[in-house]
Amino acid sequence: MQNQTFKAFVVEETAVGKFERKFIQKPLDSLPAGDVLIRVHYSTLNYKDGLSARGHKGITRKYPHTPGVDAAGIVEQSDSPDFKPGDEVIVTGFDLGMNTSGGFAEYIRVPAGWVVPLPKNMTLRSSMIYGTAGFTAGIAINELQKRNIMPDSGKILVTGSTGGVGSLAVAMLSKAGYYVVASSGKPEKSDFIKRLGAKEIISREEVRDSSQKALLSARWVGAIDNVGGDTLSTIVKSLAPWGAVCSIGLVGSDKLETTVYPFILRGVSIIGVDSAERKMSERLMIWKRISNEWLLDDIEFIVKEVSLDAISDEIDIILLGGQVGKVVVRIE
Ligand SMILES: NC(=O)c1ccc[n+]([C@@H]2O[C@H](COP(=O)([O-])OP(=O)(O)OC[C@H]3O[C@@H](n4cnc5c(N)ncnc54)[C@H](OP(=O)(O)O)[C@@H]3O)[C@@H](O)[C@H]2O)c1
Repeated sequence: MQNQTFKAFVVEETAVGKFERKFIQKPLDSLPAGDVLIRVHYSTLNYKDGLSARGHKGITRKYPHTPGVDAAGIVEQSDSPDFKPGDEVIVTGFDLGMNTSGGFAEYIRVPAGWVVPLPKNMTLRSSMIYGTAGFTAGIAINELQKRNIMPDSGKILVTGSTGGVGSLAVAMLSKAGYYVVASSGKPEKSDFIKRLGAKEIISREEVRDSSQKALLSARWVGAIDNVGGDTLSTIVKSLAPWGAVCSIGLVGSDKLETTVYPFILRGVSIIGVDSAERKMSERLMIWKRISNEWLLDDIEFIVKEVSLDAISDEIDIILLGGQVGKVVVRIE
């Protein structure tokens, strides 16, 4: 394999601080040291990949860089007793695609501690329909359940519901038996959202309160929020007593303004969700739940499968908030 090269999507920073995208042949030796060399078969697009491709230094410090926080493929070389050539595996999160060469390429090399055996009941492709988005939705559902927010507890709100995390959260919650209220800025996608399983659809504006009230009527017992900013502060004010919101994303804003009243008068919680750095035991448990009780029978309608060559166009769309469902990237 010495001197072997592989195709990779690369973002470069120019001398004037602009970020340019191209495909190059990289030597395998350019990959970071790691225990497991994986031939990538599928990846999937996440908002974070868009930010990395746009030059967000909070995500990727150094360029040139290959984004792609998710990868599914086959082990080609392994220094770890836990994996052997031919094993089907997935890698999501940790530093993959952030400051470690990511899944938008034919190969990745990573520490064995990042690698998850492909769950039973899944193919490499189907695992990447879920990817970080589905894994994050799964963590959020699990966190709500830890607080005893169960299907019979009341309504659950999901914001950004046509996006990657949003669509999978709506579908997985519905599969688990929850009554899901989905908010979206895409009224033309209501059939899509209903097919995910949502019982009610509301507009983004309905989750953006402009009054200065510290508390609003209780509307939801739980929520999964991809938006942040005014949307998250509105949710906090609108949670039922002992309700909880999982704060996942910031597509609207990274700011949060709130008073303490929802916390001290209704006992509500904001649960921070970071999907990148989860312990392996929890990772395996969440993937087991995704591949069993939350596995979606009707899923292909959310998938847009593209080849690696099309990734740049898809990145532009996700950065504009225009993606619907999941973009699965076919690497070979
Ligand atoms: N915490 C974690 O570990 C973790 C993991 C994965 C993702 N994330 C974060 O979660 C968020 C969603 O990620 P994703 O990959 O699912 O992105 P995505 O596919 O682009 O979905 C985001 C959705 O949010 C809505 N939206 C977009 N711009 C908006 C705006 N300005 N105001 C309000 N709503 C807007 C849109 O849905 P509608 O049109 O239906 O409203 C859009 O489809 C991102 O911020 C991402 O960084 C965090």
